[in-house]
Amino acid sequence: MSTKQRIWVCSIDRLKEGSYERVEVEYADEPSSVIVFRYQGDFLAYRNLCVHMPRRLDCEKDMIFDDTGQNLRCSMHGVIYDPVTGESISTICEGDKLTPIKVEVNEGEVYIFDKRVKPLLDDSEHINI
Ligand code: FES
Repeated sequence: MSTKQRIWVCSIDRLKEGSYERVEVEYADEPSSVIVFRYQGDFLAYRNLCVHMPRRLDCEKDMIFDDTGQNLRCSMHGVIYDPVTGESISTICEGDKLTPIKVEVNEGEVYIFDKRVKPLLDDSEHINI
């Protein structure tokens, strides 16, 4: 039986609007990553896996937002997502959604918190609390 594990991401000061952090994790017992970002003041996270093909959103460029900074964009073929819902608003994969991951902010620190997500065993930076 899996249990929820809280994984530290970074301090809120480090996560400015338009920036993101990528955390390497296990998702449903497979290596994966999670993107965590701040958008219009809210902290949001998704599994870093495009709905179009099994690629990370930041696989080609070290970025997850489009040029406007208002939408998420996969760097492989350019599928655009609504940052709040994770839903594709491109013609390709229209309506398909990124997998949301719960975020918790506590005493100035940002965590992800999801029963499907576990820290990597050799990850000493992201403390499992
Ligand atoms: S893999 Fe993301 S748009 Fe094609």
